[in-house]
Amino acid sequence: MIFVTGGAGFIGANFVLDWLAAAGESVLNLDKLTYAGNLENLATLDGDDRHTFVQGDLGDATLVAELLTRHQPRAVLNFAAESHVDRSIHGPEDFIQTNVVGTFRLLEAVRAYWGGLQGSAKENFRFLHVSTDEVYGSLTKDEPAFTEAHSYEPNSPYSASKAASDHLVRAWHHTYGLPVLTTNCSNNYGPYHFPEKLIPLIIVNALAGKSLPVYGDGMQVRDWLYVKDHCSAIRRVLEAGRVGEVYNVGGWNEKPNIDIVHTVCTLLDELRPRDDGQAYSRQITYVTDRPGHDRRYAIDARKLEQELGWKPAETFETGIRKTVRWYLDNPKWVANVQSGAYRAWVQKQYT
Ligand code: NAD
Ligand code: DAU
Repeated sequence: MIFVTGGAGFIGANFVLDWLAAAGESVLNLDKLTYAGNLENLATLDGDDRHTFVQGDLGDATLVAELLTRHQPRAVLNFAAESHVDRSIHGPEDFIQTNVVGTFRLLEAVRAYWGGLQGSAKENFRFLHVSTDEVYGSLTKDEPAFTEAHSYEPNSPYSASKAASDHLVRAWHHTYGLPVLTTNCSNNYGPYHFPEKLIPLIIVNALAGKSLPVYGDGMQVRDWLYVKDHCSAIRRVLEAGRVGEVYNVGGWNEKPNIDIVHTVCTLLDELRPRDDGQAYSRQITYVTDRPGHDRRYAIDARKLEQELGWKPAETFETGIRKTVRWYLDNPKWVANVQSGAYRAWVQKQYT
């Protein structure tokens, strides 16, 4: 089996669902169930004995050691993290605790487990660390996209904590020989995306008749990848990636935020027109910019394409249409994630 951390979050849950559909091999899923973790994301697996869920912290060394010994996974994939940049600006502590200290403790537990393996089990074992393009910092308009050789220049507490975790993973390979793989991916979107992030926030606010907050001038550029393409990239890197290597993952879909917001509005105009017949774009409101806001991210994914033959299956046009449809088809999921804690966050961030 494989051992996944953070498998009740947005990307982790999509990965677990995809993995069981594509590979069929059992998954042990350790997740703390913070505000971002949601077992409803995995509801379709109820009764599927290939999926074992354990609520717990990746930094709980005793628990992780016990799970490793009991389940003998052939790989550990680390998705668990505090992931929202705005929250890291309001309160960086949890980001240091989970992303840095938690990754360190996980690495130590995995090193002890791997050290006790023998023969091919030891040789074939992998630790795959899921990271972000934000560790590379911000690009100007004309600079080339991030390659794996780009220097680390993290600018937010979130990206600094992810950069620290990447460095730990690298060092555990270099010093102890732990067989690691690291992926650095661009912005994901798709089903089960928590509506504190741009795309799902715009969809749910639009449908609720609320304002659509665009930070600053809305001309910050992100490079968007449909979440299931990220999952297929991780599967491919786990299968064939060279130990100790880093692979950038991206969809060659650079877009300014304001274009993303207009695209979502136009799709909603078509699929769920407003009662008054007006365009959803009327709800767009420019708000105060994010402090230290990175201007542009762009991923050069050629290494992954050329070495491992991976390519995204979705274009932005097909992926965003599927995403908007998913939110329209799943109002119960949306209503349930907008709990008291969610409302408190929105109040804090947007007033
Ligand atoms: P998310 O916030 O939706 O989910 C994170 C999950 O981790 C949640 O289920 C949460 O309960 C769990 N978690 C948090 N702290 C934990 C802890 N201490 N112990 C165990 N579980 C804990 O995040 P996401 O968007 O799914 O991101 C997953 C990973 O992918 C993260 O490492 C993130 O840095 C990385 N990433 C995200 C994106 C993106 O666009 N969302 C892009 C590139 C990389
Ligand atoms: O690049 C990968 C990263 O993408 C991941 O590592 C992070 O975990 C993930 O959260 C995401 O970070 P971003 O900060 O790019 O995503 P977010 O959805 O928060 O914001 C996307 C852009 O939209 C960003 O430029 C800020 C802007 N924005 C965001 C919100 C929530 C707005 O203009 N208005 C908003 O209300």
